[in-house]
Amino acid sequence: MPTDPGRVLAFDSGIGGLAVVQALRTTLPPGTLIDYLADNALFPYGEQDDAVLVTRILALMEERIARLRPDVVLIACNTASTIALEALRARFDVPFVGCVPPVRWAARVSQTRVFGLLATRGTARRPYLRSLRDTFAADCEMIVHGARTLADLAEQAFLGRPIDDDLVAQELRHLFEAPNGDRIDTIGLGCTHYTFLSNAFLRLCPPDINWLDPALAVARQVNHVLEMRVADRSTSASPESLCLTGPAADEQALKHAIARLGYQDITVLDPTPIS
Ligand code: DGL
Repeated sequence: MPTDPGRVLAFDSGIGGLAVVQALRTTLPPGTLIDYLADNALFPYGEQDDAVLVTRILALMEERIARLRPDVVLIACNTASTIALEALRARFDVPFVGCVPPVRWAARVSQTRVFGLLATRGTARRPYLRSLRDTFAADCEMIVHGARTLADLAEQAFLGRPIDDDLVAQELRHLFEAPNGDRIDTIGLGCTHYTFLSNAFLRLCPPDINWLDPALAVARQVNHVLEMRVADRSTSASPESLCLTGPAADEQALKHAIARLGYQDITVLDPTPIS
């Protein structure tokens, strides 16, 4: 049995993964260290080229894993998980937990057999998503909307800024105005950022929609992987860190917001370990 409570490295393009960190804080044993890396210099991932993303994510993980020696790496980003998880598992000798759109969950709970899925444009066009649908939701109609602005709006909401409901509503309309969109009874969040828009979604959608946010289930999976480890990995002795790949647009506001999650400071990786 390992003697230390463990070390987790969580990764996202921005603040989205902090929604899962929020769930980790209440799920993991006290004392578990959770390092965080946000590749804010390349945000939003949903608008990037697939090959660029894979190369970059591998390079960033190479540096972080070598430095922090985590017990588990959480790819707290659907856009990264659906393109890079396989390559990461093949490259590194550490367990990875990914975030993928909750298609299976939606197929389990939808009564009308028509559910919506909100994701980034990158995730929405991936074969990975089609394969999830074919495997787990073949008897359902899955209406997917790849949203351009929701991740940006979530970044604002995280910082406590007011967001424009009209912009959120414009994105949601793509689900409800699609053919059969009036039969949607369930909507899955296929992007970790969207947890921070939950209040807006509830405000702007019919009240009987069943919203599926996988953050807690992902946190439980990380806990399970930590519990299963058989030996200490000799993780780094350094204190918990929250790192960015570029300067924060508003460092003061970000510092204030991350304090809620137990982070005191922000470090910008220098030099950024990317090609
Ligand atoms: N948080 C990321 C996800 O879960 C996406 C945000 C972005 O486009 O960078 O997909």
